[in-house]
Amino acid sequence: VQSERESLFIVNNYARDYFQDILKNHVDGRSIGMAYFRNRGFRDDIIEKFQLGYCTDSHDAFAQEALQKGYKKEYLVKTGLCYETDDHRLRDRFWGRVIFPVHTLSGKVVAFGGRVLANATKGVKVKYVNSPESEIYHKSNELYGIYFAKQAIVKQDRCFLVEGYTDVISMHQSGIENVVASSGTALTPGQIRMIHRFTNNITVLYDGDVAGIKASLRGIDMLLEEGMNIKVCLLPDGDDPDSFARKHNSIEFQAFIKEHESDFIRFKTNLLLEDAGKDPIKRAELIGNLVQSISVIPEAIIRDVYIKECAQLLHVEDKLLVSEVAKRREAQA
Ligand code: CTP
Ligand code: MN
Ligand code: MN
Ligand code: MN
Ligand code: MN
Repeated sequence: VQSERESLFIVNNYARDYFQDILKNHVDGRSIGMAYFRNRGFRDDIIEKFQLGYCTDSHDAFAQEALQKGYKKEYLVKTGLCYETDDHRLRDRFWGRVIFPVHTLSGKVVAFGGRVLANATKGVKVKYVNSPESEIYHKSNELYGIYFAKQAIVKQDRCFLVEGYTDVISMHQSGIENVVASSGTALTPGQIRMIHRFTNNITVLYDGDVAGIKASLRGIDMLLEEGMNIKVCLLPDGDDPDSFARKHNSIEFQAFIKEHESDFIRFKTNLLLEDAGKDPIKRAELIGNLVQSISVIPEAIIRDVYIKECAQLLHVEDKLLVSEVAKRREAQA
């Protein structure tokens, strides 16, 4: 007999096919959904590859069609594709949105993201709606794009980490395929281990605004802990990888990264230094913060390299950092 998990995957596959069909063949799909993607510069082959779709704004067109085809209400609700209203009617979660299926490492569809069409509706409708957690979907264990990226990650021995769906897609379109998205949240240990199966090297491509960067610093300590080499590249002000990829070809993009990426510890030190200025208390905090980052690195040689680099940037003696890192490691052991 079919397990519940299998049933949920079957429903997701049906929904993926349905949304794709609407996008390509339905009047609204073509004039609204497809027009939206074309307007963003997405090519047909990329729309096909990422299995993008569209859900009409009728509120229950998908639900009705699925029920009629014999898909059980129970599974439509458990996958989060639909939800039940107080008066027991079934509604489409993604109505009026373009659809981004989320694939597992092996290419199975576990979830969907749906984006509103116009930024004008901002404030009225949230920009992205995502599938809720389910028996087959644990957000913290999935990485958007990993199925399409894994071979390129191995080949390039590097993984680019970006924030969003469209960043992954635009980079693919421009020929950079070793890229995954954390989907707007901090990386989890499970996601890090997934990347680590394919490479030791990660380059984080941040949007050009400092607030987001600071929020993500903590997640990066986990990458250090895993013994990975992390570089950070800041994009120009106002750009995210999607908008940048649309203005530059892949050669220019790669060249930009090469020129602007810096080692994570150096990046973090400079960022914190700018913040602290000459304030002695802030500087002490900063040193504590860096010592913490360095102390989680498993390899002694790499810790040493970072200590020397930080000591230089901070104008303190190596010895000080060496003993602070040692103290911290003892406390952690
Ligand atoms: N995100 C989300 N829910 C939101 C906002 C964002 O799940 N309300 C996730 C999405 O995975 C999104 C990522 O965080 O792709 C990054 O968010 P953001 O930078 O705001 O969106 P973009 O991916 O840049 O999308 P777009 O270019 O279409 O605005
Ligand atoms: Mn390794
Ligand atoms: Mn953002
Ligand atoms: Mn963005
Ligand atoms: Mn964007």
